[in-house]
Amino acid sequence: MILHTQRELGPLNTLALPGRAARFARIETAGALRDPLLAQEPRFILGGGSNLVLGGDVDRLVLHMAIPGKRLLGEDAEAFYVEAGAGENWHDFVQWTLAQGWPGLENLSLIPGTVGAAPIQNIGAYGLEVGELLQSVTAWDFERQVEVGFNRDDCRFAYRDSRFKQEGWHLNGRLAITAVLFRLPKAWRPNCRYADVAQELLARDIAAPTARDIADAVIAVRQRKLPDPARLPNAGSFFHNPVLDAAPAAALKAAHPGLPCYPQADGRVKLAAGWLIEQAGWKGKALGPVGMYEKQALVLVNHGGATGRDVRRTMAAVQASVSEKFGVALTPEPIFL
Ligand code: FAD
Ligand code: EPU
Repeated sequence: MILHTQRELGPLNTLALPGRAARFARIETAGALRDPLLAQEPRFILGGGSNLVLGGDVDRLVLHMAIPGKRLLGEDAEAFYVEAGAGENWHDFVQWTLAQGWPGLENLSLIPGTVGAAPIQNIGAYGLEVGELLQSVTAWDFERQVEVGFNRDDCRFAYRDSRFKQEGWHLNGRLAITAVLFRLPKAWRPNCRYADVAQELLARDIAAPTARDIADAVIAVRQRKLPDPARLPNAGSFFHNPVLDAAPAAALKAAHPGLPCYPQADGRVKLAAGWLIEQAGWKGKALGPVGMYEKQALVLVNHGGATGRDVRRTMAAVQASVSEKFGVALTPEPIFL
């Protein structure tokens, strides 16, 4: 095991924020995690750095998860069971499953990051959350020095949430996910509920889409709306869409009829944070080098040379504006390190 010191993390986070790791190791096998050198604390587990706000230098051991591998573990009458290593690129993995003829994950095309990070916030897009097709997670528990497994119910998935976050393991580096197993049902049906995807398929004159058609539609919608981090550094949606009880949501909707509202199964209502931020005047507006994207107000962007402190300043200003105008508190989605 090679331990690097003072490793620059700027190229390893999609907001391109500066900072160095005091200690750093690249993890290419699950077995490498058993090395006693890695038992030291504090620790942080890093994937693709696409949901991260780096506050500056990090006085921790940073483990960069690069475990490769993807394979069909088995199949039965109902489903294909496909496993991938934590370091696999998420989008490449999804495209590979489609090419093999195992549909299901197509709505999650083009989400940046790694397979190992996908369960952490239960990544979701265009009407699908990864928890719906996840069978189990394998991880290394540094505290108990054992391999542990979680089935789907153990993971306690919710909107942008999981047990891994609820227990704080995503912050203290106790648990490193090494592999994820997916169950992709053979009885596939297209999932085109999301208006943007339905409209894109209509514009392409596709009435009975294949999984590949849906992936292509999702990719086109995302490329139109979301900035490519390689060109304009960002971390995707910067805030969660707030979920309110029915009564306050109805009152807000009455006062602001244009507000997009999505009723949830539990009776609560999800609001579009992007709309609130745009109405508060932040779409395309910046404070110093950090602003909200001109085509999607929910995406915070680094126009160049920003630090973690600049990000926090713009974040706080946006939260204050939305709270003042709508009385709604916005909570950030990325992890602060
Ligand atoms: P990191 O940013 O490296 O880490 C995120 C968290 O996961 C950290 O707490 C880290 O400690 C933990 N972690 C990472 N790997 C492991 C591991 N192997 N074991 C244990 N803990 C680990 N998200 C969505 O849900 N839907 C979207 O549509 C979406 N669109 C995006 C669009 C853009 C342009 C960008 C930049 C981001 C978007 N995101 C979206 C957010 C991001 O892609 C996801 O959160 C992704 O899962 C993060 O993966 P990562 O490997 O980069 O994780
Ligand atoms: N809207 C505005 N102005 C804006 C942006 C959005 O009015 O500047 C309105 C849109 O017109 C639409 C509504 O807000 O009526 C929702 O917008 P959109 O469909 O773009 O989705 P979102 O709520 O902004 C969420 C996820 C994304 C995910 C998309 C597609 C969260 C926090 N964000 O965005 O996830 O890709 O839906 O499912 O839930 C991420 O988590 O990083 C992420 C990108």
